[in-house]
Amino acid sequence: MAKAGRLAAGVRRPGRAVIVTDSNVDLLYSDKLAASLREAGFDAVKFVFPAGEKSKNASTLLSLLNFMAESRLTRIDTVFALGGGVVGDLAGLAASLYMRGVGLVQLPTTLLAAVDSSVGGKTAVDLPAGKNLMGAFYQPDLVICDTDTLGTLPEAEFSNGCAEVIKYGFIRDAAILNMLGNRPVDEIISRCVAIKRDIVTADEHDRGERQLLNFGHTFGHAIETCSGYTIPHGSAVAAGMVIMTTAAIKKGLCDAGSLGLLKSALRACGLSVEVHYTYAELFDTILSDKKRSSDRIKLVIPRRVGLCELIEVSLNEAREFLRLGLGGT
Ligand SMILES: NC(=O)c1ccc[n+]([C@@H]2O[C@H](COP(=O)([O-])OP(=O)(O)OC[C@H]3O[C@@H](n4cnc5c(N)ncnc54)[C@H](O)[C@@H]3O)[C@@H](O)[C@H]2O)c1
Repeated sequence: MAKAGRLAAGVRRPGRAVIVTDSNVDLLYSDKLAASLREAGFDAVKFVFPAGEKSKNASTLLSLLNFMAESRLTRIDTVFALGGGVVGDLAGLAASLYMRGVGLVQLPTTLLAAVDSSVGGKTAVDLPAGKNLMGAFYQPDLVICDTDTLGTLPEAEFSNGCAEVIKYGFIRDAAILNMLGNRPVDEIISRCVAIKRDIVTADEHDRGERQLLNFGHTFGHAIETCSGYTIPHGSAVAAGMVIMTTAAIKKGLCDAGSLGLLKSALRACGLSVEVHYTYAELFDTILSDKKRSSDRIKLVIPRRVGLCELIEVSLNEAREFLRLGLGGT
């Protein structure tokens, strides 16, 4: 964190800096970041909102945009998103909207944000009808990942990040599953970010290959939404991956051993995958999913560990996947 100001000054002219963070991360790291920014010549102000997914909404977004205007931010100024995926998604969207775009530096402080949300330029807030329905593609000028910040992350939040790490193992690199628990976290983060970099470089606007990164997310987002965002994103994605893998095996599309490998990797990371919603409740939410177009929806199907495929199915077929994945026969 001490180097953040110097690194940022390498890509952004030191001007006004708005540090956006949540109520937990604020107490831990915003003073350190502000000091580093001031040392590098930035004039830092701070916007803090209550921690948690429930704050990732249009009302917090509007408050942040008003704060940026009251702080007299101009187009040469920079937003610093200090926190997990909630902070990064919200601050990123505000940076894309304010004066049609100001500078953006992402400083992820959760494992999930480090391996996934801080990279690739997807920004969004939730609407009552579903996750991430108001958003934009907006690339950060810089991502500064200080892995020392993960030292204060509660264990359950670390586990949530592991769900996205396991996702990378399933879609591209089976060896990642063996690294969990055995390798330094820096190495795991670099490997995941390299996969995301390659996929996003090939398909920045999510029209093809990038959608593979949604493995577990279609059903995962439905679980998150049904829970009123009390189930964290990582845990919901973990359950979504199990549902999809179970269904794919029952349909003869996936190698039968994959489910055992997935479940043992999730268990080793302390992730439980119990789902307390009926398939009718979950399916109703899926009708608002961004991955749906008209009466078709794209699903990410595992073929085996390390290889996933994108298929487009009718809504009826998607319902059948969900039914089978939740234990139907
Ligand atoms: N944009 C993308 O490509 C993308 C990808 C994956 C997920 N996401 C989004 O990311 C969000 C989930 O992110 P998350 O899991 O980081 O949740 P989060 O941002 O809510 O952070 C989880 C909790 O950890 C706390 N925290 C953060 N850093 C900490 C630290 N270093 N020490 C102590 N506590 C800390 C936070 O205050 C919060 O309570 C979801 O909204 C999801 O939709 C976006």
